[in-house]
Amino acid sequence: MAARILDGKAVAAEWRREIAAEAAELERRTGVTPGLGVVLVGDDPASASYVAGKERACSDSGFFALDWRLPADSTQADVIELISRMNGDPRIHGILAQLPLPRQIDEQAVIETILPEKDVDGFTPVNVGRMLLDLPCFLPCTPHGIVRLLMHAGIATSGRSAVVIGRSNIVGKPVAHLLMRKAPGGNATVTVCHTGTSDLARFTREADILVVAAGKPMTVTGDMVKPGAAVIDVGVNRVADASAAKGFRLVGDVDFHSVSQVAGWITPVPGGIGPLTITMLLRNTLEAAKLAAGQHHPTV
Ligand code: GUN
Repeated sequence: MAARILDGKAVAAEWRREIAAEAAELERRTGVTPGLGVVLVGDDPASASYVAGKERACSDSGFFALDWRLPADSTQADVIELISRMNGDPRIHGILAQLPLPRQIDEQAVIETILPEKDVDGFTPVNVGRMLLDLPCFLPCTPHGIVRLLMHAGIATSGRSAVVIGRSNIVGKPVAHLLMRKAPGGNATVTVCHTGTSDLARFTREADILVVAAGKPMTVTGDMVKPGAAVIDVGVNRVADASAAKGFRLVGDVDFHSVSQVAGWITPVPGGIGPLTITMLLRNTLEAAKLAAGQHHPTV
């Protein structure tokens, strides 16, 4: 194997220690404990597992977490009413509505109910707009984690070619912006590929940094990667595996076996980007709590 592993889990543990120390210091100085309100609608096992991970991380870092589970047949009004209550709850500094929501619920309407100053996912139009304008805001967690991980590993982005596969609001669009903006971890020349891209390999082979958020296993194989590239695998896919205790295992969007022979750096799944997403959520919640305690505004 040629590639070096980008160990998101270890980096996340280091950053979480710093966050926990800052949270304790905030509480000591101001009496404010960072609080996260989480809404999970329905019983999708993958979403339930993500939410459990977020709650565990909160309690490990000394945060207060309030968790609301609504039945799968909840109405949009039910979810909006709950979020409105969280908007007015001074114990809650950050609100997270786990996506995707059931089909009968308009996701955008739910997102737009969250007060921008409690939008620790960075999904509201105010935060997305501020991000695009390079103004202080809450950055979306997965893209922020990716850029921070590249910086932590000393992988240069400035002047290099970055290719993003996927154009979702959660990952593809915002990570493309963070990689292109004129700031540390940015200043790359960014190409965004998606399901409408013909001859994906033509683009991926040019990438010094390849971010794969396609939502499909085996989207990228070794023959599609430039030797030495940094490959960031955002995918989390469950594939049936009778030999695994749970009957499935997690794989990314990248064929780890073949890509790790060619790439210079690669994130594993699990243990790569997932733990960093949760860590950046804690970071944003801490910043929201500082804001509520009259401290500085989070900066990009
Ligand atoms: N679903 C998948 N990723 C995310 C995320 O980062 N935040 C929320 N709220 N839902 C998600």
